[in-house]
Amino acid sequence: MAARPKITVVGAGNVGASVAQYAVERELGDVVLVDVIEGMPQGKALDLAQAGPVHRYDSTLTGSNSYDDTAGSDIVVVTAGLARKPGMTRDDLLFKNAEIVGGVVDQVAARSKNAILVLVTNPLDAMVQLAWKRSGFPPERVVGMAGILDSARFRTFIARELDVSVENVTAFVLGGHGDTMVPLPRYSTVAGIPITELLSREAIDALVKRTANGGAEIVGLLKTGSAYYAPAAATVEMVEAILRDKKKILPCAAYLDGQYGVTGLYVGVPVKLGRRGVEQVIEITLTAEEQAAFQKSAAAVRELVEKLKL
Ligand code: NAI
Ligand code: 2OP
Repeated sequence: MAARPKITVVGAGNVGASVAQYAVERELGDVVLVDVIEGMPQGKALDLAQAGPVHRYDSTLTGSNSYDDTAGSDIVVVTAGLARKPGMTRDDLLFKNAEIVGGVVDQVAARSKNAILVLVTNPLDAMVQLAWKRSGFPPERVVGMAGILDSARFRTFIARELDVSVENVTAFVLGGHGDTMVPLPRYSTVAGIPITELLSREAIDALVKRTANGGAEIVGLLKTGSAYYAPAAATVEMVEAILRDKKKILPCAAYLDGQYGVTGLYVGVPVKLGRRGVEQVIEITLTAEEQAAFQKSAAAVRELVEKLKL
């Protein structure tokens, strides 16, 4: 029988450990958790392995401080880095996390030359661009998680506002993962009905604002870190779409080569995710207002990328 896919998760903190948990609960593959803190990834991996008999999974979990254990991974999720603290913007993290992510990518790319890299570390879009450059991988094998999370937040708020099941709600949030993200109400629906038919402009504006502030809202409540359950769930949706070749249309940070009028930059757009990674960038029609908001968001990403001289 074929071996299970190998999933490496670098950074065994809040997001990384939750990614490992959700991934083994779905038996998506065997998981290697890597962190710089000695004993911590080993302890979390062992703890999660011991949940296996109760939650009925046979996926193996390995914790390590060595990249040698990651060799031959099918997919590498990078969550290593610092999380936002109250008062800190995502952009404050830029230089510190660039140093961490650059080092991580060098290590994993050398040992898993055919892997797909899924970046989570913030500031997200700039970190994906960095990972793509440092790995030398083709752009379709380097992708970032943000749009699914931002869309899931928007979906949650829409469902609560209309008192309907979250399962009925779809939503699209494009652009960079930051204050300039672009929620698209016209493409956000409840059982197929655009929310523009169901909610007033004022109500939608309030939900859009809360979505754009979604990460900061949780930082403000937690005080010691940032969100991790929904970010991990969003990441695992990508891992599943890739490993099971689902060809799912999801908003992800993907490399644009002229699409949406943007060239040579990673930004959040709808893509088709499958076993080859980003198999297609889906171009949807935007109004002049939406396109302007998207361009503004892409410009904010480009500014960070230029600061990193990528
Ligand atoms: P955390 O602090 O709980 O975990 C980060 C882990 O990275 C720590 O265990 C730390 O020891 C480890 N680490 C640091 N340097 C490392 C290195 N060189 N090699 C390996 N491991 C290293 O933080 P959390 O909450 O897990 O967040 C992780 C990152 O994900 C942050 O940058 C955060 O801003 C970002 N994030 C991004 C989201 C998105 O939508 N893209 C959503 C949520 C978090
Ligand atoms: C979030 O949106 C911190 O980027 C992270 O929750």
